[in-house]
Amino acid sequence: MEILTFKSDKDAAQKAFEIVRDGVVSGRVSTLGLATGGTPVEFYKKMRESNLDVSSISTVNLDEYVGLEKNDPNSYHYYMEKELFSHMNFKESFLPNGMAKDLEAECRRYEKILKNHAVDIQILGIGANGHIGFNEPGTSFDAETHIVELTESTREANKRYFEKEEDVPKYAISMGIKSILAAKKIILLAFGRSKAEAIKEMVEGAIDPSCPASILQKHPNVTVLADEEAAVLLKEGITSDR
Ligand code: GLP
Repeated sequence: MEILTFKSDKDAAQKAFEIVRDGVVSGRVSTLGLATGGTPVEFYKKMRESNLDVSSISTVNLDEYVGLEKNDPNSYHYYMEKELFSHMNFKESFLPNGMAKDLEAECRRYEKILKNHAVDIQILGIGANGHIGFNEPGTSFDAETHIVELTESTREANKRYFEKEEDVPKYAISMGIKSILAAKKIILLAFGRSKAEAIKEMVEGAIDPSCPASILQKHPNVTVLADEEAAVLLKEGITSDR
């Protein structure tokens, strides 16, 4: 695991953008895995302000809430349209459909899409409890795309985006940890003190489902781009950049 720390989230986002840009320009990247939440916002800003030609690039997203329409401002479909897709000419973009009548069938359909679109670079955030995608603590490392019951702490953390706490969905469809690990390269972004415990556990803790992100220690190509606050609890020996 390569860990780079930065003064600000903007600097980290710039580094993430450069890695993605180099992959796209060199032709090594044909599918990008994308994440939502507050963390990748600066990265998406760099992407949409660039003149990167993404017309041959497919995207797949990690997750979507169950029960929100695509045009619901809190859905991840809406978020991706707003932050990225309406500004750039991607070849095609896929997210799970949280409104599917048969959610199990939707998980299988999405997993098939992932099999046909091997992710070259996956952008990840991390939950304060160590979740990646919506894979909450306790999720099997062997899980593929599945339906997730969100923990109280995740609903609490995400309620800032909703009018009322009751509006936060209880379920989501998420790429599983196995599906996430299939990416050739993973860039995990983490900003702010609230992520420091999760980052420490991910990097220095035991590889255990109680911290889903800890499995990334086993992936051959992970770059963590953190700000100083998120990296504050790590032991010394961390590479600094910028
Ligand atoms: C959300 C998303 C994750 C995201 C994480 C952190 O629940 N499902 O993909 O990485 O929680 O969110 P934020 O970036 O807003 O802190």
